[in-house]
Amino acid sequence: MTSLPRLVVLISGRGSNLQALVAAIRQGRLHATVAAVVSNRPDAAGLHFAVAQGFPTRVVSHVGLSRTEHSAALREVVLPFEPDLICLAGFMRLLAPPFTRTFPNRIVNIHPSLLPAFPGLDAQRQAFDYGVKVSGCTVHLVDDDLDHGPIVMQSVVPVLDDDTPETLAARILAAEHKTYPAAVEQLLHQPWRIEGRRVVFQSYQSV
Ligand code: GRF
Repeated sequence: MTSLPRLVVLISGRGSNLQALVAAIRQGRLHATVAAVVSNRPDAAGLHFAVAQGFPTRVVSHVGLSRTEHSAALREVVLPFEPDLICLAGFMRLLAPPFTRTFPNRIVNIHPSLLPAFPGLDAQRQAFDYGVKVSGCTVHLVDDDLDHGPIVMQSVVPVLDDDTPETLAARILAAEHKTYPAAVEQLLHQPWRIEGRRVVFQSYQSV
């Protein structure tokens, strides 16, 4: 039996996307194992879930560190877990070369908008205020720029006339919970390459 690909999940808060990844593993939709959960905040609610699941957890606080110093500290903590893929799941710090160069094309993020529209904080409210009729979520590879790397998968949700920023965010979050595990499964188990900014998956027939 071959061993399962190893995920290290980075969180800063609630951890509902972490829970969605774990649910997908349990339900056989995602063939992977969670090697560790790492937070930059000791009070991240997602850490409680991780501990309850028996996953190794670590806290690498960003307080008092530059972006580069924090990324270097994260690298030292994450490397021993030998991740095949690092999943940012509500991780609210920008990563820098000490981390990104150590794991090229092996870091993914989920963002609650259809990138390149509405990067950054409060993306759901940005979309609501702009008046777009559809929004959604984006899973993308992580580079050194904010919400910028090549796109792996996107899901579209409608913006309804009676939406509030909160109801829109809830609809997007439900899409995130389906999209992130599906994207991670595809990255781990289907051959792919990068052409320019495009992540191109090879169909099994042409492998
Ligand atoms: C999600 O909306 C995700 O797209 C964004 O931060 C939020 C994290 O939520 N990057 P959770 O911690 O996974 O519940």
